[in-house]
Amino acid sequence: MSRWIKACKLEQVKIGQLFGFSHEDKKILLANQKGKIFATDLICTHAYADLSTGFLSAEGVRCPLHLSVFNLQNGKPDNLPADVALKTYNVKIEQNEIYVEV
Ligand code: FES
Repeated sequence: MSRWIKACKLEQVKIGQLFGFSHEDKKILLANQKGKIFATDLICTHAYADLSTGFLSAEGVRCPLHLSVFNLQNGKPDNLPADVALKTYNVKIEQNEIYVEV
């Protein structure tokens, strides 16, 4: 059963920024793309790379290790070498706090 967890304050993820956090066994990435917050898995599906140290653009988040770009809406990679989608999570904002459904 899914539940909402509090991730961080909204101002901790400014436009164009990435933010990684852990909750129990999950590692989650928050991305602020043009003012909209997205949540995906933090670790690349290709190898062990922390996507919060990657690069955010209009296309999505680019892995810092081998440069696959993942779409933030569906988690799918646009280019090799990654060929498995990141898991994506629902996000809501309440009273300036970001919540993620895990
Ligand atoms: S580790 Fe991310 S593309 Fe290889």
